[in-house]
Amino acid sequence: MNLALTTLCENTAGKPGFMAEWGLSVLVQADGMNVLFDTGGNVAAVRNADKLGVDLRAVDTIVLSHAHADHTGGLREVLMRTGPKEIIAHPAIWELKYVKRAYEKKEAFIGVPFTRAALEQLGASFTLRKDPVCITDTIVTTGEIGQTTDFEGIEPIFYVKEDGSLRKDHFPDDLALIVRTKEGLVIVLGCAHRGMISTIRHAQMITGEQRVHTVVGGTHLFPKTDEQIEKAIHALQEIGVQKIGVSHCTGFHASVRLAEVFGDTFFQNNAGTVYTLDSV
Ligand SMILES: [Fe+2]
Ligand SMILES: [Fe+2]
Repeated sequence: MNLALTTLCENTAGKPGFMAEWGLSVLVQADGMNVLFDTGGNVAAVRNADKLGVDLRAVDTIVLSHAHADHTGGLREVLMRTGPKEIIAHPAIWELKYVKRAYEKKEAFIGVPFTRAALEQLGASFTLRKDPVCITDTIVTTGEIGQTTDFEGIEPIFYVKEDGSLRKDHFPDDLALIVRTKEGLVIVLGCAHRGMISTIRHAQMITGEQRVHTVVGGTHLFPKTDEQIEKAIHALQEIGVQKIGVSHCTGFHASVRLAEVFGDTFFQNNAGTVYTLDSV
């Protein structure tokens, strides 16, 4: 099986002519399927697809990693190109998500910036599941991720609004996409709010495959302490990850440290990056 991960939206343009936009969108092509994992924040996924000559009408299904607008804000533009599509996500995707930092007076809405009805009018049909969804025999969503490490916490700036008041967001909606290959698992992360290492261990648990070949996407290491970053790096080494391509919420500081440790097995996964794996 040949696998290709084409990053259509990311904070940084990886090549001249690509559009940078805070967010993430990765086209996962494997097992004869085109799965669009997240849609970026606005128009970049569609613009960069045009730049790459990627025909979005060939997308078979859309998977949303979580509700945040930098992953779901491109949905309208994408659906206008793809036409009617199934969208796989966790039921908590429709929670009212907010962010409020200590220095901010008021919370800001950062959830899906469209109503469900508006997206359904554009042809979206939602498959909302807490459990893993098998898209093919080899492509599966993680479903709800168990937090199994003691060093990957959720920052106390994320909230859900319920009956007019804010409560902490525990990110039940946070999920990743897994492709089983002969070389081991390929895991595509959205923001990894429940923790990159917890996500990888969850993927190992639900597939029964211990070998992890590639991890790509948002690792959410940017707000973490040096101690937390070192623990994550140590865990990646223990797991034996062969390739790590970081994006989005990894941040410069953690990216530099990962590059230092992983050398040639590290890459920056930006807008326009195409990562391929021949696995026969
Ligand atoms: Fe994000
Ligand atoms: Fe997020």
